[in-house]
Amino acid sequence: MNTEEKTWGTELNPGGLSHDKKHNRRRRILIIIGVLLIVIISEFFRSNLYISVEEIDYLNKDIPKAFNNVKIVQISDYHNHGGSYDDRLIDKIKQESPDYIFITGDIADSIKTDIDKANSFLQRISAVAECYLVWGNHDHRLAAEDLNKMRSCCKKYGITVLENEFTTLTREGQSILLVGSDAAPDTGKGPELMRTLPSGEKFVMWLHHFPEDFEKIVTESEKRGSKVDLLFCGHAHGGLIGVPFVGGLYAPGQGMFPKYTSGRYNIDDSTMLVSRGVGNSGWSLRWANSFHLVVCTLKSGQT
Ligand SMILES: [Fe+2]
Repeated sequence: MNTEEKTWGTELNPGGLSHDKKHNRRRRILIIIGVLLIVIISEFFRSNLYISVEEIDYLNKDIPKAFNNVKIVQISDYHNHGGSYDDRLIDKIKQESPDYIFITGDIADSIKTDIDKANSFLQRISAVAECYLVWGNHDHRLAAEDLNKMRSCCKKYGITVLENEFTTLTREGQSILLVGSDAAPDTGKGPELMRTLPSGEKFVMWLHHFPEDFEKIVTESEKRGSKVDLLFCGHAHGGLIGVPFVGGLYAPGQGMFPKYTSGRYNIDDSTMLVSRGVGNSGWSLRWANSFHLVVCTLKSGQT
């Protein structure tokens, strides 16, 4: 009886089933849109709050034995973040128990400048490990007075600032050359640094804000009889928007679909590690691209 009623109902009103179909299709579309919105919004919050840690073992037979298993935490593009975020960031850095902290530029932000936040962060990380720093484009765009305040803070808390110069890291009588530049090899004070680079060093690490200068640093240092074994950079902010299966969308200095945004890159025997940064510049935000601490452990390959 019920079957007959249903059959009659369908035959008498064929549009009734079509209406149900339309309703169901609309419901499915709304569910899909809802799920997509939830994914997009949660990924937005994850990218702008979560700090991911990338552990990288870097093996090179030229690393002196005394530096075997030495751990370096790289911090880049902090952009005077501040607030309770700093506690989480510093806790993550402390958990790694680094031997050295390398800071590769943009500690301060030149759009939403807050030197007190930048200096407070510098003071706090200086207590965690020996720190070495180069400036980024945002730091250089600050008023001279503000940049000098950060220089003074670094001096006060024992952070070594490398302004187109080099220093030596020493452990148990063995040493590594550490170069720090804020100018490309062919601009500003870059050529002067290249001229003064010592040649014949066994192992050379380098701090530089701009990853797009990788090729130039490799070729120009080779011309001077020097080299770069391990280069640390930032600046690209991971390409801001992560494009699935492609990488970052845009980076200053590299344009659309940038080549160097995150992790490890090689040219011949030179390696570059790029941090996606631990802050955002100005009002910019990121998506599918979380904050990024690079933790590099040196492996000398010698027993
Ligand atoms: Fe930056």
